[in-house]
Amino acid sequence: MDTGTEYQERFAGDRETMKTAIYYFTGTGNTLAVARDLATELGDTELIPIPRVIHQPEIVADADAVGIAFPVYFWNMPAIVRQLVQNLRFNGNPYIFGIATCGERPGGALFNLKTLLEEKGTTLTSGFVFVMPENYIGPIDLMGDAPHRQEKYTFAKSRIPSVGEAIRQRKVSVPEGSDSVLLKIGGRIACTLATSLYNTPRRLHATAACNLCGICEHICPTKNISVRADAVRWGRNCTQCYACIHWCPKGAIEIGGRTSRKPRYHHPDVTLADMLHQREE
Ligand SMILES: Cc1cc2nc3c(=O)[nH]c(=O)nc-3n(C[C@H](O)[C@H](O)[C@H](O)COP(=O)(O)O)c2cc1C
Ligand code: SF4
Ligand code: SF4
Repeated sequence: MDTGTEYQERFAGDRETMKTAIYYFTGTGNTLAVARDLATELGDTELIPIPRVIHQPEIVADADAVGIAFPVYFWNMPAIVRQLVQNLRFNGNPYIFGIATCGERPGGALFNLKTLLEEKGTTLTSGFVFVMPENYIGPIDLMGDAPHRQEKYTFAKSRIPSVGEAIRQRKVSVPEGSDSVLLKIGGRIACTLATSLYNTPRRLHATAACNLCGICEHICPTKNISVRADAVRWGRNCTQCYACIHWCPKGAIEIGGRTSRKPRYHHPDVTLADMLHQREE
């Protein structure tokens, strides 16, 4: 593996061409908001929605610095982000950084990204965590941080210049978060409980408040929803982003019975149009 000094020297000659590409995935806009702020800070940065490229058999990253930005799910990466990394090929030898947004605890999400990249013969050179508002609404509602959302936005924004500078300087650092084996096991157990036992994706359904507007079908990053003349149906390819629940204009999507009458959330600077853009064909 590269040592910090070697790595920074290797990039020393590349300073005029600072093109950055950030592959991002978002369910409620937190990750997109952070990725956009970072893109503005860095300049010459392309934001690439992961759902738009995920079906390509090989995704070629062609930039001096490549970022992978995602929300943390169960102290890990979302399945769709793992799939991206598996299909990603890097042109040349870019500086690779991770951006993980989470509600409180990132666990080993960025370390898992590093391991995945190492299995491909490359590595994660740095990884940054941004604590943002919680969007996990079921089966346990963790969105009790609502009174502190503004503080989280403010703190996240305050970190952008230093993270941008670290990327510009091609700094090598240990990813933020924790590499604890216990957290890895805990994350797997939490994920199993939420997805297999409680079976969260299978319990998604639309209530009588649904007006069949079709937004959920077009927003779902994995094309897992179809809106028919008389009903909304979910398939089995759910990455658990909760976008359908939070963006339904009628608040008509529930997981079993535990999410009813609970407020929905999305980042205030991210619009429905932004979400539809993430998935556009
Ligand atoms: C299925 C699921 C699992 C989550 N697991 C975690 C977690 O392990 N740790 C944490 O701090 N936040 C967790 N969250 C909260 C999100 O990581 C956080 O709200 C993130 O910023 C959402 O980003 P987005 O708006 O870009 O989708 C989880 C959210 C969901 C939907
Ligand atoms: S977004 Fe909501 S209202 Fe629109 S079709 Fe889906 S469930 Fe129904
Ligand atoms: S079905 Fe809903 S929660 Fe599952 S991936 Fe699609 S939008 Fe996200």
